[in-house]
Amino acid sequence: MDRFQFAAELAREAGRLAHTAFGASATKSKGVHDVVTEMDGRVERQVRAAIAKAFPSDAIIGEEEGGGDGERLWLIDPIDGTANYARGIPHYCVSIGYLEGGVPTVGAIYDPSHDWLYVAERGRGAFLDGARMTVSPCADLAAATVECGWSTRRPAAAYVALVDRVLAAGGAVRRAGSGALGLADVAAGRTEGYAELHINAWDCAAGIVLVREAGGFTNDFFAGEGLARGNPLIATNAALCVKLADVVGIPMSVPMGRPEGLTCPPGGQRTT
Ligand code: IPD
Ligand code: CA
Repeated sequence: MDRFQFAAELAREAGRLAHTAFGASATKSKGVHDVVTEMDGRVERQVRAAIAKAFPSDAIIGEEEGGGDGERLWLIDPIDGTANYARGIPHYCVSIGYLEGGVPTVGAIYDPSHDWLYVAERGRGAFLDGARMTVSPCADLAAATVECGWSTRRPAAAYVALVDRVLAAGGAVRRAGSGALGLADVAAGRTEGYAELHINAWDCAAGIVLVREAGGFTNDFFAGEGLARGNPLIATNAALCVKLADVVGIPMSVPMGRPEGLTCPPGGQRTT
């Protein structure tokens, strides 16, 4: 079975299940400003069961139940934007990423509030409901909108400093509460960049494939302990790659598994 097609169908099906309790699912707290709903667990169990049935030897890591690494690895965020979901704010998604030999290979993100399905496969392009996506061509940070992701995993002062630097460079800042949809917005050319000081692998695995296949760039998120412990993340287009990396202070290294034929501009490949 084709994992690309499988992931796309599974994300849509899981998102439809999530939406049946949108704004109404019982909520528990995992930490300060970190909630989890009954539906997070239910959706993850459904996605895990479907993968285990179709690809029994694949490894699975999910936000709610964890898991272990493998050559063929699925990364599941059953509900990304849970705080929005629990509050009845229609900006959340199901995110399913697939890595082969550590390389982000397939991404499927379903936004149930809009019935939007974002999919991408390495070397095949990125699509929103079947239409090819391309990152924004904007080359001017002063005309750019950058989503700056936030969580309590990093100090508030560090987040404020990041936002301050983007604003000082003339960029507009937003924070909508779903890292996966933030990356989908970069891939769709709606925003010029996404930056977060720490994000987890299940939040961004699928979105990284979308951005790269839409002609954009990310840092090498899975370097070091990215898979197990998370890393900083930056995603943007070729024209802003060097400048935005400087401004947010997240090095834009040679992107791992980037689409054929794309090269980050000189200076965008440094790792320090
Ligand atoms: C969070 C969201 C948020 C991002 C955080 C994530 P959750 O995931 O994606 O936008 O900034 O890093 O933890 O808690 O909604 O699944
Ligand atoms: Ca998440």
